[in-house]
Amino acid sequence: MAPELEFYPLADKPEFLEQLATWNHNQWGYFRPNETIQFSRNLFTERLNRDHLPITYVALLNGQPVGMFSLITDIYEMGYPNTPMLNNVYVDKQHRKKGIGKAMVAHAEQVASELGFENIFLFTGEKSLNKFYKSIQWEKTGSGKFLGDHDIWFFEKNIAPAPISRPR
Ligand SMILES: CC(C)(COP(=O)(O)OP(=O)(O)OC[C@H]1O[C@@H](n2cnc3c(N)ncnc32)[C@H](O)[C@@H]1OP(=O)(O)O)[C@@H](O)C(=O)NCCC(=O)NCCS
Repeated sequence: MAPELEFYPLADKPEFLEQLATWNHNQWGYFRPNETIQFSRNLFTERLNRDHLPITYVALLNGQPVGMFSLITDIYEMGYPNTPMLNNVYVDKQHRKKGIGKAMVAHAEQVASELGFENIFLFTGEKSLNKFYKSIQWEKTGSGKFLGDHDIWFFEKNIAPAPISRPR
């Protein structure tokens, strides 16, 4: 049987909150040197929503957590007051390069669209990810700094449904 990748709001799978907090802390904790894992636990607890931002999704492969993403408001005041930000895109190391990242971002776009948004943005501190996001039709729109001196790059995507073309 083919492995099945499924996406759930973390609110429906709270038993995986600790795993997500651990991934988050290990991957991005260095941005705030004094940060504890409790910071990440609190972050994901705030995101236990299903129908409004902030919201976190967990990706399950055969029932086991392999990745996560969040859709949040512009809490860092990057100039996108009405646009959801794709945040914490993460695939467990042993499951990378198998298409899960692309599938997760596609699902995030779908969720944002179903919530009524027509655009979505993100920033990344990984220059190497330019290729990843470009390959899934995100546009690089600028660069900046995060928490002092970390270089970041901004990406945006229009997710408005395509207009239905009618025969003339
Ligand atoms: C970025 C990340 C989510 C990608 O997940 P993934 O499941 O490996 O991605 P996919 O398998 O869908 O890869 C899609 C494409 O992007 C490429 N790619 C993936 N990660 C890449 C990286 N770090 N650098 C360059 N290219 C990358 C893949 O080679 C693949 O290219 P292909 O379609 O030409 O083969 C994963 O590497 C990760 O969790 N990284 C650590 C956290 C992180 O940096 N998150 C992004 C925050 S903005």
